[in-house]
Amino acid sequence: MLRRLYADQPDSFAFTPDNQKWAEAQMKKFPDGRQASAIIPILWRAQEQEGWLTRPAIEHVAGMLDMAYIRALEVASFYFMFQLQPVGSIAHIQVCGTLSCMICGAEDLIGVCKDKIAEKPHELSADGKFSWEEVECLGSCANAPMAQIGKDYYEDLTAARLGEIIDELAKGNVPVPGPQNGRYAAEPLSGLTSLTDHEAGKARYNASAQLATDIGDTVKRIDGTEVPLLTPWVKDPKTATVPAKKKAKSAAPKPAADKPADKTGVTKQQAAATSKAKPVGKSNPETVAEAQPETLTAPRDGSADDLKKISGVGPKLEGTLNELGFWHFDQIAKWTEADVAWVDSRLKFKGRIERDNWMAQAAELAKAAKA
Ligand code: FES
Repeated sequence: MLRRLYADQPDSFAFTPDNQKWAEAQMKKFPDGRQASAIIPILWRAQEQEGWLTRPAIEHVAGMLDMAYIRALEVASFYFMFQLQPVGSIAHIQVCGTLSCMICGAEDLIGVCKDKIAEKPHELSADGKFSWEEVECLGSCANAPMAQIGKDYYEDLTAARLGEIIDELAKGNVPVPGPQNGRYAAEPLSGLTSLTDHEAGKARYNASAQLATDIGDTVKRIDGTEVPLLTPWVKDPKTATVPAKKKAKSAAPKPAADKPADKTGVTKQQAAATSKAKPVGKSNPETVAEAQPETLTAPRDGSADDLKKISGVGPKLEGTLNELGFWHFDQIAKWTEADVAWVDSRLKFKGRIERDNWMAQAAELAKAAKA
């Protein structure tokens, strides 16, 4: 189905002050220069505010995130969660029309939508309260046929039950989401044949239906003032900054000033002073000082070990290690803590040497190669 911008657009868009704060706090979740990563939640909030995603809203969000408009439109037009035209003031009903649901009666559900809402998808009902569309698989195939109404799933539907749900919503009630035929979750229709002990202690609703009931925003639009929905990692969005990362600590005991860092006899101070190579990343004062390990300019006898045999080393990392002057298992097996710090600061993902214990692995591989 083509997903295009609606013909009749408002002139402008602005977030409410609460939503603006919320959106700015979302942007702080990502490193500088990566704010575009916040596009989905911020577009979603714009939709929650307006009811649908207008062109000025998409452009506004693109501007906030320093993105080309077309990039933001690509996201908005790709996902069915974004409504590119006005939807019903109470609910927009998305009926799954993919295989399982179609086999199990999706066409009957669509018939109900046509009867009760509007003949065509994306048309508003006469009272403006509902709209509907057919969507691709919503991942609830074991409970086919189903429909997403607002933010939640109504599963194991029949035409009659969907009609009742629409009537209930029109009256201002919100039927409990989840299976509508008495099933608890996605167990066999004929009942459980195993894990029957679980039956006794189960809650009234399955976890998804329970959460939907507890949160209570199935068809309610959030507006940014809800306390639990206001970025939990930020206490006061007005003054908030992302909490500073905990300082990395070396698991090994740190040497005292001018005392040898390890059995090489290199002191913390000397190691820092004699390390000639330029560090790639920022140095962390809390970590062990670097010392350049012994390196080679080429593999011995022109034959390098296959460093990819070390778990955690792929072709890219092997290339980096070779560039740094490491070609053999026995070189890596000998690394001291200061050597590890030197190599680590030149790798993109720090900490993986210790995490995967490259030295122990390399020692084993060197031993095996000699045997
Ligand atoms: S086919 Fe309908 S949810 Fe997957």
